Amino acid sequence: MSWFSRLLAPPLCSDPVPLRQSMQGKVVLLTGASFGIGAALAVRLQAAGARVLLAARSEMELKQLGEHVYPLDLRDPASVDEVAAAVLRDHGGVDVVIHNAGKSIRRSLLRALDRPHDFERCMGVNYLGPVRLQLALLPSMIARGSGHIVNVSSVGVRLPPVAQWAAYLASKSAFDHWLGAAVPELRRHGIRCTSVYLGLVHTRMSAPTKEYASLPGLSADEAACVLCRALIRRPRSLAPWWLEPLHWLGPILERPLEWFPF
Ligand SMILES: NC(=O)c1ccc[n+]([C@@H]2O[C@H](COP(=O)([O-])OP(=O)(O)OC[C@H]3O[C@@H](n4cnc5c(N)ncnc54)[C@H](OP(=O)(O)O)[C@@H]3O)[C@@H](O)[C@H]2O)c1
Repeated sequence: MSWFSRLLAPPLCSDPVPLRQSMQGKVVLLTGASFGIGAALAVRLQAAGARVLLAARSEMELKQLGEHVYPLDLRDPASVDEVAAAVLRDHGGVDVVIHNAGKSIRRSLLRALDRPHDFERCMGVNYLGPVRLQLALLPSMIARGSGHIVNVSSVGVRLPPVAQWAAYLASKSAFDHWLGAAVPELRRHGIRCTSVYLGLVHTRMSAPTKEYASLPGLSADEAACVLCRALIRRPRSLAPWWLEPLHWLGPILERPLEWFPF
């Protein structure tokens, strides 16, 4: 990690004890567990003694990570319903749901004129699928009077709109907003919600944007460390220190950004 990356997001994973204390014996449903941040997080949580239910489309990758494998396509409502039912049947419920699966598309509007599916796919993976999954799991969490829902989000949803990221950021913002609106009701039932706003992470997702390769960012494992911190402390939100000042500067930055096509 360069000194600049370290300044943007200091490493947080030095002591494994608090994670073990928080997660040992917990049943954790982790979406997007097959690659990137999810795979790194699965390894850490299993080492900490959690029973991690691994969900994504790539069954082979999931099987290499652990034994509780749930093939899931968030864009397919039947697949979401099936996984929710199987999880409840196999484990009786979950203590933690980590909505980590995600799809990103960076494409200019004029290159997307014949691609309405770009928007539908992002909405399916980043918003509609996670909402459907969470709705199916909520009754059991409410009955237990406890639980933790973690939304793996992006700093982009807290900043002014950026050219070319419409499909991704609109769908990530939708889930962030949905969860925010659910917080007051869920709090009354003992369910905590955390939104984690990540900056650039060097994974399969960010790799196609060549311009990002040389920018400072976290590795998948460093991002998993950030999520471990969220699981230990269960704050309402977790973000790099620089996000809040930039968020408040948003109204000032918005107009100049409209002239900057990226
Ligand atoms: N990388 C970044 O710079 C960055 C920055 C901010 C936030 N994030 C967020 O971090 C999370 C993880 O991203 P990552 O960087 O680790 O990306 P990644 O390596 O591409 O992993 C994405 C995960 O989502 C799963 N997924 C994709 N489509 C799916 C579908 N239809 N149904 C079920 N699962 C699906 C993938 O598994 P399968 O292909 O096997 O289904 C994979 O496990 C995402 O929510 C992303 O928005 C990433």
